[in-house]
Parts: sequence; C-alpha cells; structure tokens
Amino acid sequence: MQKKVVTLLFIAIMTINNVPAQEGTVIPLAEPERTGGMPLFEALDKRQTIRTYKPVELSPQDLSNLLWAAFGINREDGRRTAPSARNWQHFDIYLITAGGWYLYEPQDHALIKLGNEDLREHAGGQDFVQTAPLNLIFVSDQDRITGINPERKDFYSLVDAGFISQNVYLFCTSEGLATVVRAAIDKENLHKVLKLKPSQQVVLAQTVGYPGE
Ligand SMILES: Cc1cc2nc3c(=O)[nH]c(=O)nc-3n(C[C@H](O)[C@H](O)[C@H](O)COP(=O)(O)O)c2cc1C
Repeated sequence: MQKKVVTLLFIAIMTINNVPAQEGTVIPLAEPERTGGMPLFEALDKRQTIRTYKPVELSPQDLSNLLWAAFGINREDGRRTAPSARNWQHFDIYLITAGGWYLYEPQDHALIKLGNEDLREHAGGQDFVQTAPLNLIFVSDQDRITGINPERKDFYSLVDAGFISQNVYLFCTSEGLATVVRAAIDKENLHKVLKLKPSQQVVLAQTVGYPGE
C-alpha cells in the first residue's frame, strides 16, 4: 500500500513537471468501476465500428475501466473478463499512445511504461490510427500455450483475441467511446518496434478514443 502511495506521488510530481515517466516505471491505474454501464441488450443493439476520433486522451477512469473490461482479473483465482482456452491466459495488451507505449499488467491493474516514443505510425496504415489517442495491440505468447500440437496454437490465438476485442467493443458502446478492431497491421514491424520475444505473436490491433464529428 505504502509502495502504491509513493509511486502515485512520484507520478504526480513527474506529471506536474511535465517529465515523462521512465522506461520500466509501474503506473497504477485507477480502481476499475466494475458495475453499472449500459444494459447488455442496449449495448448489443448499439455496438458498431467507428473510425473517427477526437485527438483527446482517454480519462484515467475510462482507461482503467477499458483495460479491466478488455482482459482484467474478475475473480479471486485470477481468471479474467474474457475466456481463455484452458486458462492459458497467453494474451498481453500493449498500448500505443502519443506519449509513449506501455504494457497492461493485470495482476496489479497497472501499466508498465516501455518507452516514451510515439509509435502510432507503426500501429497501422489507416489515417485515424495516427491521431486517435490509443491503439491496443493484442499479443499472444505462444510459450504459454502448452500441451497441444504446435499447429493448433494459431487457432487458439485467433479465437482468444476475438473475445478480448468484443469486450472492448461492448465497453466502448456502453461508455460512448469509439473503437475499431484491426487486422490490417504490419505484424512483423510491430513485433520489432515493440521489442517482442520470438515466442510472442501480434494478433490484432484495436483503436479506442472519443468519437469525432
Ligand atoms: C477480424 C477483424 C478484422 C478487422 N480489420 C479491420 C481493419 O483492419 N481495418 C478496419 O477499418 N476495420 C477492420 N475491421 C472492422 C470491420 O470492417 C467491421 O467490423 C465491419 O465493417 C462491420 O462493421 P461493424 O463492426 O460496425 O458491425 C475488422 C473486423 C474484424 C472482425
């Protein structure tokens, strides 16, 4: 608890002085709200892809709720908001923003800062990707998929990513945010710029932000 307070203080000082957090800094997210939102049937009725975004950062609460809804921990035993084949939990969510790039750490519900560069030009070729505030990159670690024929690993990566993406869609619909899942990405290049391990595979990207005009 004391560590969390010290980290929050450190981040507050950094923000006041406009100094970006250093690589490896753990940035605690706001407590996710976990209740409320739009009724499920209304969200299903309204779910859609939106490709126009305001160049405005997500509020800390929206960002926290989004990541928790996407693939946060929702039970004491560490299981998640999206199903995971054989509970391998082989997906990590990377975040690409104007102010740097991050890894979502679900155990502490925190971000780990990985770099200060704006990597949006690598997040996809569609125009809106360059101006939207947030691109999520869903990355599967094939080393965590164990006990099956290696040819089947791709299948589980594709399927499990779909559940996370749909969680993001329903959350965004509920909160009036815009989102689009994207397979048209240069996966090899993203693998390189995100400095991923050989066992990690970029599967999908998903842009999120406040809807534009
Ligand atoms: C696996 C998958 C990949 C997609 N890739 C892209 C993409 O690269 N770029 C894009 O603009 N939309 C992409 N989309 C969004 C679809 O174009 C969109 O879902 C479709 O037009 C139906 O619209 P709706 O989501 O509003 O129902 C993708 C959707 C899925 C499911």
